[in-house]
Amino acid sequence: MAIHTENIIVEKTKASRINSVDFSNLNFGSVFSDHMFVCDYEDGKWQTPKIVPYQPITLEPSAKIFHYGQSIFEGMKAYKDEEGSVFLFRPMDNIKRMNISAKRLAMPEIPEAYFMDGLKELLKVEKDWIPSAKGSALYIRPFMFATGKGFHASPADSYKFIIACAPSGAYFSGKVKVLIEEHYSRSANGGVGFAKAGGNYAGQFYPTQLAKDKGYQQVIWTDDNTHEYIEEAGAMNIFVRINDTLLTVPTSDRILDGITRKSILAIAEAEGITTEVRKIKVSELIEASENGSLKELFGAGTAAVISPISGFGYKNKDYELPELENTYGELLKKRITDIQTNQTDDAFGWRV
Ligand code: COI
Repeated sequence: MAIHTENIIVEKTKASRINSVDFSNLNFGSVFSDHMFVCDYEDGKWQTPKIVPYQPITLEPSAKIFHYGQSIFEGMKAYKDEEGSVFLFRPMDNIKRMNISAKRLAMPEIPEAYFMDGLKELLKVEKDWIPSAKGSALYIRPFMFATGKGFHASPADSYKFIIACAPSGAYFSGKVKVLIEEHYSRSANGGVGFAKAGGNYAGQFYPTQLAKDKGYQQVIWTDDNTHEYIEEAGAMNIFVRINDTLLTVPTSDRILDGITRKSILAIAEAEGITTEVRKIKVSELIEASENGSLKELFGAGTAAVISPISGFGYKNKDYELPELENTYGELLKKRITDIQTNQTDDAFGWRV
């Protein structure tokens, strides 16, 4: 289904907030651009999409989002190069994954054209909000939630799809120290771990808070069954370097099919780095740390791109990662951000 630009109702703000924003000092996701794209699903179909000023939303107290958590999202970024051209990175992968999440949460799928054309129109309106400084981008948050009312525990009959944007700097500054989780789980077989469901993140906050109380910044999630295998790093996919091999774990019911994850794997292979996608035991990490073959650990995701890990805790013991020069993490982050920001050829055809 194609939508045409003239079918999107555009209502522009009369009072832009852009001059109140310090673009040289941006945090992650804490100031929001002037407009948002909104499309409602009612009476079994998507209604006329709109671009309207960023504003609060009014919902019924019985809206099912509040009770049964039908809520999904994506994370993307728009980049501006020195000439002022604007780029997205593999946006079709986000659209496809949003619809995979929608299906799992019994929500309606969004026609790809609504998503893509809506996003492109929104970015035309918000072009001045896209930062061009190195390390910054316009973080784009497409999300959908149940607006339909009723306390009956069943899928809602109406939904709202919104794309909101936040000019953003780095997600983490510096390296993070992580705790390998021995009790709590992020996801389970047959569950929703592969979906970008809001509840997946809500379930992480309490164990992460417990880890913070012990002096760690993030949790390394382990499998729910045995807690013997590492799965994800906080809200990111996990990468491990043992000697010169870069490893990550296979995606599954429990693990998000991260776009940064698969891009990093492809770039690493093109760089001649040996990669392995296989299950990784906690005991293998400990052994590699003890015999000196564990060189790097990092998380990978859209928000942080690559987030290096300085050390990890497990069973009341801390393990330090070595301080290396020329890490895979730095190399791969440079390669991927150069592609994203149009600093290099795009051999993979990822830039849009
Ligand atoms: C990402 O790494 O892009 C994420 O999805 C993290 C997000 C929860 C901020």
